[in-house]
Amino acid sequence: MFIVETVKEIRKIIKKEKREGKKIGLVPTMGYLHEGHLSLIKKAKEENDFVVVSVFVNPTQFGEGEDYESYPRELERDSNLAKSAGADILFHPFVGEMYPNGYNTYVETYKVTEKLCGASRPGHFRGVTTVVCKLFNIVAPHRAYFGQKDAQQVVVIKQMVRDLNMDIEIIPCPIVREKDGLALSSRNTYLNEEERRAGLILSKSLFKAKEMIENGERDGLKIKDFIVKNIQGEPLANIDYIEVVNSENLESMKKLEQEILIALAVKFGNTRLIDNMRIKIS
Ligand code: PAJ
Repeated sequence: MFIVETVKEIRKIIKKEKREGKKIGLVPTMGYLHEGHLSLIKKAKEENDFVVVSVFVNPTQFGEGEDYESYPRELERDSNLAKSAGADILFHPFVGEMYPNGYNTYVETYKVTEKLCGASRPGHFRGVTTVVCKLFNIVAPHRAYFGQKDAQQVVVIKQMVRDLNMDIEIIPCPIVREKDGLALSSRNTYLNEEERRAGLILSKSLFKAKEMIENGERDGLKIKDFIVKNIQGEPLANIDYIEVVNSENLESMKKLEQEILIALAVKFGNTRLIDNMRIKIS
């Protein structure tokens, strides 16, 4: 497996693969790979002939005071893991390759970016859509793989692809969790032992809420209140948001129907964790 750092070089490789009729799958990441990322790479390998994994800690999606500088970076480890999961190329551009001097263009999707993480992290999704659009233009994959762990990100990317007529299939992949329920995240590495234990309240509350809905509860506010109370019962937890929304358009939902998304963001110390659950209402 190669590590490629320039747009010119990766384009040359992709051109050759496409000439041979190969289907290209792209898995965009910010690195510090874990089993969640690897599940995307494995799926991409199953469905495509040639898999590109990008590792790029994208500065434009971090707000002021967020963890851009401290975000974990371990390229050698990532390249070994990506290779073992089936990646053919790791694309690892430097910041100046993606945003050279004089860079001045951004891609912005409205409405679905205004709530949930978009409300607490202004400008975040503008950075995500910009970098993902660039990666799509650079790699020109047939399919791109994204985790449901970042449920709003999937909705936003799908909207961008639809609105800008990008000829790329977006494949959402299920959340990978630790045995005890904690959703895998590169940011879990920031948690101390106490915070790691406290963080379990997120998946526990989501699974309990799912059970309530399976037992017939259809009142979105009751579900939300239940989760808020549960999480408030954990002294280390500091709620950013907890929302029950329509999983397609992220509109708030009082009476639960079709498919819902329960999405939440909660801080433990300085670490902000997100988690969610999609539930089909029968
Ligand atoms: P990153 O947080 O590195 O995540 C890369 C991809 O892995 C995303 O699609 C994310 O949803 C997925 N992922 C993370 N944890 C997961 C888990 N526990 N289970 C399943 N999938 C998981 O998301 C980003 O990077 C960036 O915003 C990016 C799209 C690369 C743009 O910079």
